[in-house]
Amino acid sequence: MPYTNNSWKSDLFSGKVVLVTGGAGTICRQQTEALIQLGANAAIIGRNVSKTENAAKEMSSIRPGAKVIGLGGVDVRNVNDLVKAVERTVQELGKVDLVICGAAGNFLADVNHLSSNAFKTVVDIDLLGSYNTIKACYEQLVKNKGSVIFVSATLHYYGLPFQAHVSAAKAGIDALNQVLAVELGPVGVRFNVIAPGAIGGTEGFDRLNRESIDAIKARIPLQRLGTTSDIADATVFLFSPAGDYITGTITVVDGGLWHTGNGG
Ligand code: HXC
Repeated sequence: MPYTNNSWKSDLFSGKVVLVTGGAGTICRQQTEALIQLGANAAIIGRNVSKTENAAKEMSSIRPGAKVIGLGGVDVRNVNDLVKAVERTVQELGKVDLVICGAAGNFLADVNHLSSNAFKTVVDIDLLGSYNTIKACYEQLVKNKGSVIFVSATLHYYGLPFQAHVSAAKAGIDALNQVLAVELGPVGVRFNVIAPGAIGGTEGFDRLNRESIDAIKARIPLQRLGTTSDIADATVFLFSPAGDYITGTITVVDGGLWHTGNGG
């Protein structure tokens, strides 16, 4: 579904450049498309070369004159990959103002079947990958008084079985967000987390069966699944000048689900 929301000024992000890890994925793609539609240029970073490049090509048609580059073959676990990707972005788009750390990996596994390496793999992609992204973008963020959004989750607010690896990683991301907000606030860089709840049409959600989806939906106080546009709207707000005094926060976009004590 294309992003549409007429509440925002169409040139809100004119002249801004956003760098997005996992930008070809469902949620991050919609976040990026919203920013492009509202004037930004974008660099999409991913491991899969054709998926990343094709997504960038498609996204450049969202707005006449939009520049969107796809940088595939980049593994966020490797900080040098990211340093090169930032260099390419600066060469081709001039700078980096906004960063979305969205690259993530996940699967369901109970602790007995979750090897040490499997746990490490997800922590490395989600948490270390987010840290590496900030390391690689550091100079650009400070120079341009940039703003960062980490894509986290709500499942670590309660104990969700089969999700030890991703829960540990996302809790770490929330902690990283707080530290960076305090450390880099004085030089004008903002950090915030968006924690999506049950978002329809995502890879993780599509792995659930119909019964589980209906059961989750019935528990959501706002009585519907979230959409990728819900996440995009929170992104636009936090990156916009309306969010200028907001840093170190977690914006939960879940229709109130986690307050029911069980989001899974
Ligand atoms: C148990 C598994 C497993 C599974 C992999 N492993 N899949 N263990 N159950 N289903 C184990 C492997 O056996 C191996 O351990 C270790 O994990 C590393 O696996 P690799 O395949 O070598 O790693 P890699 O190729 O880097 O793949 C990473 C991945 C993969 C996370 C395992 O699923 C991936 O790349 N996913 C990206 C796409 C994705 O998942 N998107 C959904 C994101 S949704 P051993 O011991 O054998 O060496 C999301 C939302 C989070 O993140 C919030 C949820 C609500």
